[in-house]
Order: sequence, then structure tokens, then C-alpha cells
Amino acid sequence: MSDSLRPRDLGVIVRNTNQLDISKIVDLQKESYPYLAPYGNIWRSEELESHLTIFPQGQFVAVEPDGTIVGSASTFIVTLNPEYAEHTWKGITADGLFTTHIPNGDTLYLADISTHPKHRHEGIGSMIIDRWKELVIKQNLRRMIGGGRLFNYTEHADKISVYEYAEKVMKRELRDPVLTFELDIGFRSVKILPNYLEDVRSLNYACFIEWLNPIYQSP
Ligand SMILES: CC(C)(COP(=O)(O)OP(=O)(O)OC[C@H]1O[C@@H](n2cnc3c(N)ncnc32)[C@H](O)[C@@H]1OP(=O)(O)O)[C@@H](O)C(=O)NCCC(=O)NCCS
Repeated sequence: MSDSLRPRDLGVIVRNTNQLDISKIVDLQKESYPYLAPYGNIWRSEELESHLTIFPQGQFVAVEPDGTIVGSASTFIVTLNPEYAEHTWKGITADGLFTTHIPNGDTLYLADISTHPKHRHEGIGSMIIDRWKELVIKQNLRRMIGGGRLFNYTEHADKISVYEYAEKVMKRELRDPVLTFELDIGFRSVKILPNYLEDVRSLNYACFIEWLNPIYQSP
């Protein structure tokens, strides 16, 4: 990250999402997900409304001092049984509505994080993740998990399998804009999730990622 680009110093804050943010998040999603938007695999207003009703504490936006939203993130709570159960994005999020939220579950599920393409590598993504970590600790959740799309796999799929690709990213022989970011900020890769999300970049593969709460207290 460049010394001249520090979002915290420039006044960018991460706060909980409110109703007035919804249309701005929909606009941001179109910019952030040019490969998913044509398939409708980005948030619709009704889904964002549902997230706010179900679990407002888990919804976040990154905002510039003038009110421009440059990042957003959506989470809810689950309990997976078994703990590393294979799942799809649509299945676990109830088609994006989060009606699968379990208030007394043990795991924060990371359904989405994105920053505006013009503001990537400025530290905004990691500011959001810091808020996720705070939430996990505050609610005494055991961990947070998600499916990180293997964004650059499409560029290697004719040469190596998805397993080799993920291995190379983990060994730092290849760089993936999503998985490398997640590994750098402390997630571990558990396994490959096939058919996770319809996506021409990852060819529908995601990496099951996990971050354990270091001060979790078993009830
Ligand atoms: C993934 C995404 C959210 C990252 O957002 P971002 O704002 O660029 O994130 P940051 O600037 O905080 O972090 C990215 C960089 O910092 C590094 N980094 C961040 N925190 C770090 C830390 N504490 N220590 C070391 N490295 C760190 C990352 O590896 C990465 O390195 P680079 O800038 O040198 O390339 C963004 O790329 C994005 O919106 N992608 C498209 C949407 C998407 O696919 N989301 C994931 C859905 S599964």
C-alpha cells in the first residue's frame, strides 16, 4: 500500500449500514462486480433490506468524508454441521436473503466484501475486516468463515487444476486478488468449494476460508 494513500488518514470510516445507503450500495456493486453483475449475482435492494432487518450489526459500509460509499460488506450468523460442510453461496445465504441467520449460532458468515475498483489496495478492505474481527470478538463467536472466489483461476485453468492453483497461491507462487488478500489478513484456507457461485472468473470455485477468534470462550 502506498504511503500517500491511507484511507484512515483521509477520513474514510467503516460504519454500520443504514437504509439510506442501500441505493448507493447497489450502484457500488455494479462497479465492483463487472463479471457477476451481468448474471444478476450482485445485491438487489430487497436483499440489502432483508439483511438490515435480520442482522443490522453485521452490515457495513466504508464511507469517504463527503458521504461517497467506497466499500460494503454483508454478514450473518450460522452454525455449520459438520463444521466444514460443503455449501454453495445461494444455499447458505438463502438466495441472498439471510433468512438462514441463526442468532445464537457460533460462526460469522462472510457473504460479501467489495471495494470500489478505483480504491483497491488502499487498505479499505482490511479496515472492513478489522470490523468483522471486532464483531466476532464482541459477540463471542467461535470463528468467521466464507467462500473466497478464486478470482484469477480462469487465467490458469488450461494449465493447472484448481487444487494446484490454490496451493500455489498459498505458497505465494501465484497471486490472487481475493485469496491472497484473505490470507494476508489472517484467514486460513480449509478446502476448495466447487459450484460455490456462478462466476466466469473463478469458474465457480471458491476457497473455504476461516479465521478463529483468539479469545473465544466456550459457553
Ligand atoms: C478483495 C477486496 C475486497 C480487497 O479490498 P481492498 O480494499 O483492495 O483491500 P486492502 O487494500 O485492504 O488490501 C489489499 C492489499 O493489502 C494486503 N493487505 C491488507 N491487509 C494486510 C495486512 N494486515 N498485512 C499484510 N498485507 C495486507 C493484501 O494482501 C493486498 O495487497 P496489495 O495491496 O499489495 O495488493 C477487493 O479486491 C474487491 O472488492 N474485489 C472484488 C470483489 C470480490 O471479489 N470480493 C470477494 C468476494 S469473495
